[in-house]
Amino acid sequence: MSMKIIHTIQELQTELAGFRKERKRIGFVPTMGALHAGHLSLVENSMKDNEVTVVSIFVNPTQFNDPDDLRKYPRTLEADCALLSTLGDVIVFAPEVKEMYPQPDIRTFDYSPLDTVMEGRFRPGHFNGVCQIVSKLFDAVMPDRAYFGEKDFQQLAIIREMVRRMEYPIDIVGCPIVREADGLAMSSRNTRLSAAEREIALKISETLFKSRTFAQSHTLDETLAFVVNTIGTVDGLRLEYFEIVNGNTLQPVSNWDEASFVVGCITVFCGEVRLIDNITYKPL
Ligand code: PAF
Repeated sequence: MSMKIIHTIQELQTELAGFRKERKRIGFVPTMGALHAGHLSLVENSMKDNEVTVVSIFVNPTQFNDPDDLRKYPRTLEADCALLSTLGDVIVFAPEVKEMYPQPDIRTFDYSPLDTVMEGRFRPGHFNGVCQIVSKLFDAVMPDRAYFGEKDFQQLAIIREMVRRMEYPIDIVGCPIVREADGLAMSSRNTRLSAAEREIALKISETLFKSRTFAQSHTLDETLAFVVNTIGTVDGLRLEYFEIVNGNTLQPVSNWDEASFVVGCITVFCGEVRLIDNITYKPL
């Protein structure tokens, strides 16, 4: 087997049926393409844990609440496949929109309050779209394990909840954020930053790292203010939100002792580009 590109669900299921018969475990990495080292680490984890790895590349229209963002989202299938082929044997599932949505998906997924805070508040409908496509992809691939990055911290929590509620027999594996050498969290959106914006964007991770040290000798409110004020003074950055939350429930906490797992989640506009990142203050 070498890297194989498949465009239809039927072809994918025929391909996977053979592996399933041989009792080979199937790992799945859903992506929207524009692959970077963060995605590759998910794929490597899957290849380590499973005999077969499927990577989906699909820019899912239902999770974009901003049509401009959908239009500008990088689409680089050829380069993505070239990158994946350097890793070894993977099956790439790259469907057209019609294949995944032969008719509009009218299902609603309500995982309140997990999906109403942070990204859910600023991107209404976003997680509904994510759950629509991830459930369709899970149904198509029927993997044993699926891999998601911790950069999209809220997405990971919501997918775990969806899997619990829908009783999918799938292990969800969260993988650590992969950062550029200088600390910026890897994101497909980073390619849209100008050289000057790229410099400025570095302030996001820098501030989060500093806040972790700051947090050791300050209250939660002081730490919150430290991040908000530091980002607020950087020309070219516009803070959408910074929240310090219980890592399990995603609800804001007001002091360090309120939860055993505490994470700070941030979304910042750097010019036109919306970037997200997070930092763990108290690990699980
Ligand atoms: O994290 C992403 O890239 C997307 O939200 C996902 C999980 C591939 C669904 O489109």
